This record gives sequence, C-alpha cells and structure tokens, in this order.
Amino acid sequence: MKVLEIEDVKEIVSRVGFKDFFSMLIETLEKDYKDWDKFEKCPRVANHVEDGVIELMPISDDKLYTFKYVNGHPRNPEQDKMTVMATGQLSKVSTGEPLMFSEMTLLTALRTAANSAMAAKYLAKDDSKVLTLIGTGAQSEFQFLAFSYIFDLEEVRFYDTDPKAMEKFAKNVHEFDIKITPCKDTEEAIIGADIITTCTADKKYQTILTKEMIKNDVYINAIGGDCPGKTELEMELVKTSTVVVEYLEQCKIEGEIQHLDEDFTCPEFYEILQGKTSINVKTHGTVIFDSVGFAIEDYSVLRLIYKLSNDFNIGKEMNLIPQLSDVKNLFSLMEK
Ligand SMILES: NC(=O)c1ccc[n+]([C@@H]2O[C@H](COP(=O)([O-])OP(=O)(O)OC[C@H]3O[C@@H](n4cnc5c(N)ncnc54)[C@H](O)[C@@H]3O)[C@@H](O)[C@H]2O)c1
Repeated sequence: MKVLEIEDVKEIVSRVGFKDFFSMLIETLEKDYKDWDKFEKCPRVANHVEDGVIELMPISDDKLYTFKYVNGHPRNPEQDKMTVMATGQLSKVSTGEPLMFSEMTLLTALRTAANSAMAAKYLAKDDSKVLTLIGTGAQSEFQFLAFSYIFDLEEVRFYDTDPKAMEKFAKNVHEFDIKITPCKDTEEAIIGADIITTCTADKKYQTILTKEMIKNDVYINAIGGDCPGKTELEMELVKTSTVVVEYLEQCKIEGEIQHLDEDFTCPEFYEILQGKTSINVKTHGTVIFDSVGFAIEDYSVLRLIYKLSNDFNIGKEMNLIPQLSDVKNLFSLMEK
C-alpha cells in the first residue's frame, strides 16, 4: 500500500507547479461534481468535543472509495497546534483493497482553495478584481493563490483579529504582482470587494458580515462556518442573498443555513455544473457559497494525487496490508 507523506505531496505539487496543479485539481473537481449522481453520499460523521470536532468523510463511486479523517479545533493554536489536521485513504471498490494512505492537511487546504475558486468561476463576476480575506490563518494563502489564477485580481484586502497572522499572510504573498492591503477591521477590508472569503475559526456563532455592511452586490465564499454552533454570517444577510451549497443534507447541519427553517432549500453546486440552473452575482445580486467542505472534494484530490504519485514514482510502499501466498493462511504471519 502506498503511503504519501507531507514531503511527497510537496514534491508532487512543486514538480507540477502551483498554477498547473490548481488547474488540474479544478478540472478533476468539475468532472467529479458533474458525475454527482454516480456517488454514494452521506453527511460526514462528526464527534463533537468541548473545543472542537473530529470528523470522518466517506464517499465512493463504482471504482474508488475514499475517506478523510479531519478535526477542527479553533483553540489549538494556543497550544501551537494547527486548527485543522487531516489524513485520508483511497481504496479500490471492486476488492476493497486500500491503495493509498496520505497526509491530508496540505491536501485539504489545496482542495478547499481549488473548490472555492471553481465555484467562484461560475458564481462570481468574471471581471472580479478585488478579493477580501477575513481570517488569514492556515487556509488563507491557498485561497489567495487559487483565486489569483482564476481572476485577474488587482488587490487583496485582508483582516484577522491576530496581527501575527496578518503579518505572516503579507509576507507569504508579497512577491505576487497584486496590491496587498492590510485592514484594521472587517468593515475596512470589504470596501470595494468583488469576492469575500470568510475563513475564520471560532467555535461559536460569529457575525463577521451583516446585511448592513454589504453595500454592493458581492460574492461571499463562506468557508469558516462548517459545524453546528460555528457560523460566520448574520442570518438577515443569508436570508436576503442567493445561497448555493455543496450538499444540502450536510449543509443544513453544518453550514450558515443551519439557522434557517428545516424546509429551507437552495441549489446544490453540481446543478450548476450539470447546466440545470445558472447563478451569478451579475444576475442574482449577492451570492453566498455556503461551503462546509464535502467528501467529493477529498475524493477528487486523492484521485489526482494518487495518479500523479504513480506518474512521478513518488511515495513509499509500506507493509500495511498482508501479502500472502495462501490468502487464507493469515496465521502464517505469526510464525517466526
Ligand atoms: N469549508 C471547508 O471546506 C473548509 C476547509 C478547511 C477549513 N475550513 C474552516 O476554515 C476556517 C479557517 O481554517 P484555518 O485552517 O485557516 O484555521 P486557522 O486557525 O489557522 O485560522 C483562522 C484565523 O481566523 C482568525 N479569526 C478568528 N475569529 C476572527 C474574527 N472574528 N475576525 C477575523 N479573524 C478571525 C484567527 O485569528 C485565525 O488566524 C476554520 O473554521 C476551518 O474549520 C473549512
């Protein structure tokens, strides 16, 4: 069974190049979202603990099965640990044989950014120039990069309650040919924004954006509210905007729409890719992508990274599944 470590993922992405990797990943995501009906889907399994959540995210089609283990502990940075950490597995459906086990903390940031940029390609104005990021933690640079490859960005405006996180972000993105504007608060950061990504982490109902704050039609990529009791937007803003979700059944539990009535409904993103509906800020006013992260995105990134790891011959074969000459003689492994 192949095992991919962080260094392996880093090596694969650097051989392909960031821009091409994002473009391959977006293509893979689009294909998988288009094939929505072929997947066996369920909301993720969440174990809620005092300071966070631990989740398992399974999905399969007729060829591959994947799952991701991921946590969300917003207070972890106080102990110098990441808020979000993940590992994942890819298996062959016909035999159930595990093919690859991988680091997925980096892959989650990459797939989330690619997913955000892919959705924005359809939902945001194609001439979007100003990106705002609220929350400049671990996900932020990946978000910035993915959006910068899709849109002809002129400026990124950003705010985080932690000044060190803002300094880190400015340092990491300074070499790009895009104006970088640190802001003193969210109100200042959203001035003139075409796209706003909210990627804050706090296990409570936050009010990062309100209807009152949004002066012009804007695209809101809301990724930080992804758990019961953890949201980022004022309900009046959600109610008066056009909302698109990844998977309604899961989003009703975890997304911004957890506050709305049980019978609330809205389009799922695959419907846009399948041409069943078309939504854009230019025609619909403010649009919110209430993105909580769905297992199909992990499937896409694991499927892609597995292929690339084979192409480049990267990763270690590890003895995690018995290889037996007599497959019924498992006990032979216990012999000296
Ligand atoms: N939707 C998805 O697919 C997806 C994927 C990955 C992570 N996430 C979520 O995205 C969020 C960010 O993840 P991360 O790994 O970057 O976490 P992180 O802890 O590294 O960064 C979060 C940042 O938000 C800042 N913050 C908290 N409250 C704020 C506020 N009111 N205003 C401005 N900044 C504020 C913190 O100071 C921190 O720097 C988390 O909530 C995580 O669960 C979602």
